[in-house]
Amino acid sequence: GGVTTIDPGYKNTGSCESAITFLDGEKGILRYRGYSIEELAEKADFLEVCYLLIFGNLPTATELEKFDKDIKEESHVDEDMKKILDGFPKSAHPMGVLSSLTSALIAFNPGSVDVDSEEEMYNAIVKILAKFPVLAAWTMRKRKSLPLDYGDSSLGYVENLHKMMFARPNKTYEANKIVNDALDKLLILHADHEQNCSTSTVRIVGSSHAGLFASLSAGISALWGPLHGGANQAVIEMLEAIKEDGGDTAKYINKAKDKEDSFRLMGFGHRVYKNFDPRAKIIKKSAEEVLGNLGIEDPVLDIAKGLSEVALKDEYFVQRKLYPNVDFYSGIIYRALGIPTEMFTVMFALGRLPGWIAQWREMRLRKEPIGRPRQIYIGENHRDFKEISER
Ligand code: CMC
Repeated sequence: GGVTTIDPGYKNTGSCESAITFLDGEKGILRYRGYSIEELAEKADFLEVCYLLIFGNLPTATELEKFDKDIKEESHVDEDMKKILDGFPKSAHPMGVLSSLTSALIAFNPGSVDVDSEEEMYNAIVKILAKFPVLAAWTMRKRKSLPLDYGDSSLGYVENLHKMMFARPNKTYEANKIVNDALDKLLILHADHEQNCSTSTVRIVGSSHAGLFASLSAGISALWGPLHGGANQAVIEMLEAIKEDGGDTAKYINKAKDKEDSFRLMGFGHRVYKNFDPRAKIIKKSAEEVLGNLGIEDPVLDIAKGLSEVALKDEYFVQRKLYPNVDFYSGIIYRALGIPTEMFTVMFALGRLPGWIAQWREMRLRKEPIGRPRQIYIGENHRDFKEISER
């Protein structure tokens, strides 16, 4: 028999049991494998968090050293991949390029598709953790017409990512601790968020036993949308537009409240958080610190603060429990670090990578069945075929 009830947007449908991320939307709690996001953002580094999410425990020094070494050994990307990158116009959106390159990587690493054993999974995981930052950095350099950079294996994971993005030809790369710590924290805060749109996509694509890279490529596409990860780019574009418009925040609040207007306050609202988004709290504080430490004054930060102050007191937003989410302040930090606006969602993808991987691995290890929701059919009943001349 068919189903009789549906749940559009899966607002109240559980899709799996999971031991990775705990989220309490009423209390604003987020924990990875039992560790609070506040503590991880303060004390851990991103590579440790990758290990924690994927394998379930914080690594010992020896485990972390091996993990780091295994990743470094895989950090080359086939030269022919550059031809694919070259084929894109410079104006191509980095998220489209990144999802295409991730998918193209399958052809160059056929051994990572049909993975079943834990060892095969490990090898595929290490490969993508190593190559993904290279591809992400390349998408940015392509836009800027900069020669590609291969990184430096003596650097840490996040530093190396930064080098591959920003190193200038004929100039010695110098790591900056403020920049590195800010990036590290942002990536940790984005690392997992249980069954959100892109993660559910990764799990459902992977449930057909398509390989890890194919599942990730689909996840990147899902993340691209402005209602999901694409919101970080949309927030800055919105704040810029408000600035251009003379800083009239009230006008935009009214637009967002107007049901005839499709405009939404970007970076506001969340499917699960109904009190506050714990990530946004940390990011707001971090944005102020980073801008202060780097000596940057960005008028857009003041517009953001002003906008959220007004919205948080407005009945429309209060009633609907709409608060600033993770994407509201993250772009302000990315901008201060010199990352172009179109790259913001790529930064989100870099952070979310370990979460996607952990969720894919869990789904495969638990031998979950293929994902296949049902529907209620509301179309035409039986119709007789009409020849084209009779239509
Ligand atoms: N501005 C104005 N009104 C809003 C907003 C907003 N940002 N968000 C929700 N609402 C209203 C919505 O119109 C609806 O009103 P009503 O009950 O009168 O019809 C009510 O609040 C409930 O919203 P919903 O769309 O049913 O809620 P949802 O759970 O389906 O959507 C959301 C969640 C995050 C997609 C939505 O809040 C939104 O579009 N926010 C803006 C985009 C954004 O910032 N996305 C990033 C999400 S967090 C990180 C991530 O996933 O990447």
